[in-house]
Amino acid sequence: MSTDFLKWLDEQQGRTYELHARHINPIFVKMLQTIGFDKQFVRGQGCYLYDAGGNRYLDMLTGWGVFALGRNHPKVRSVLEAVLSRELPNLVRMDCSLLAGLVAEKLTSRTAPHKGQSLTRVFFCNSGAESVEAAIKFARCFTAKQRILYCDHAFHGLTVGSLSLNGAGFFRERFGDLMPWTESVPFNDLAALERALARKDVAAFFVETVQGKSCDVACDGYLEEAQKLCRRAGALLVADEVQCGIGRTGRWFAYQHWPNVEPDIVCVAKALSGGYVPVGAVVTTPGIMDAVFNTMERCVIHSNTFGQNDLAMAAALATLTVMEEDGIVENAETLGTYAIRQLENITRDCPFAGEVRGKGLMFGIDFKRPENSLKLQAAWDALHALNFAIFGQMVIVPLMQEHRILAQVAGYHTEVIKFLPPLNITKQDLDWFLSAMQQVLQNTLRVPGAAWDTVMSLAKGASRAYLR
Ligand SMILES: Cc1ncc(COP(=O)(O)O)c(C=O)c1O
Repeated sequence: MSTDFLKWLDEQQGRTYELHARHINPIFVKMLQTIGFDKQFVRGQGCYLYDAGGNRYLDMLTGWGVFALGRNHPKVRSVLEAVLSRELPNLVRMDCSLLAGLVAEKLTSRTAPHKGQSLTRVFFCNSGAESVEAAIKFARCFTAKQRILYCDHAFHGLTVGSLSLNGAGFFRERFGDLMPWTESVPFNDLAALERALARKDVAAFFVETVQGKSCDVACDGYLEEAQKLCRRAGALLVADEVQCGIGRTGRWFAYQHWPNVEPDIVCVAKALSGGYVPVGAVVTTPGIMDAVFNTMERCVIHSNTFGQNDLAMAAALATLTVMEEDGIVENAETLGTYAIRQLENITRDCPFAGEVRGKGLMFGIDFKRPENSLKLQAAWDALHALNFAIFGQMVIVPLMQEHRILAQVAGYHTEVIKFLPPLNITKQDLDWFLSAMQQVLQNTLRVPGAAWDTVMSLAKGASRAYLR
């Protein structure tokens, strides 16, 4: 059966974009075709993707941050195969799953590594947005308050509750009224947070330690002080570690760069299952969990059908174990520091490059209007007169077309490009990326030049699409 299926699947190759244009998302297909990303990837292994012609691509996107161990990690796969072959009694629902208990034990050994720490309880779900939705409910239930604070430029997911905490108008517009009692504060601004907490009616302050859409990092002291302000106001501190958690920044959780920070709730997803199976988790304290699940009648008052499923739990156990055994978090710290330093050196010669931002293996570049050269300023202005924030494509497109490196801009209407390599990437592969970046950034200085021709025609096309 499986050989027949794979043979049949091979015969379907070549139909992908036609099927998606017809049944899934034609405008996405058009976007990919416009920037030349309509590849036929047929295999993923470790840090690499392979197309039908056998060409190898370096994956600096990792499926939006899920493939922390690279693609198809053999140890995670072998655990999944073993679990499937055992015919386990998955999702009985009126019992407790051993695998889920084991993942909770391992995960909380990382959120509460020291005696006396209280992030020891876990609620499992299936995605990052779902973990944020759960955290909103838990915070409101525990505090009996309604207001939720979030940061400018925040990204917490796209379901209605999590979208209500989104710091970008672009994602919110056109979808009607979102959840009431939500309010943004500037990131890294303690005075603004203190003012917003003053009425003592806030249930929780949601914050990403490293913001996914901008790569902005919490300043030293910000989370410690935010935690004190929240505690004083009777509000919970929720760390959304969906993207920056599970080793990505060189700590198991990014807030752990500051030893005195212990959030009340931590949202986890993405890399937890090594990218194999959708998964999410909310890690919190016994006090909060016991307030939500407070009677036998309410023992599953917040739940979901697929949470704790065997494949997600087995993949999570295998992923966390490989991370421990292979020193993955340490690698993210060492090579992340190396990559950020090298990028800072490279970008010094490019007047379009503003700040290099990030922590560990979550880093990006913010582009800006050059300060000196009139010629470069004129090119920047001409591009921006057509379309805001398309400059990043001048880096992303040649990285793919000329250097076979997959990456993406960090978000819509921002000048930031972001990189999320596998956490087990080698220095050799990072050097492939860094030397490509050096060439690509140098080409942006040639005005007129091929890179500008490409991006100007993209911008013209995008402007026409907006006007339509
Ligand atoms: C910080 C953060 N929170 C929540 C989410 C939503 O996760 P998901 O796409 O799994 O719903 C994301 C997704 O990128 C994220 O980066």
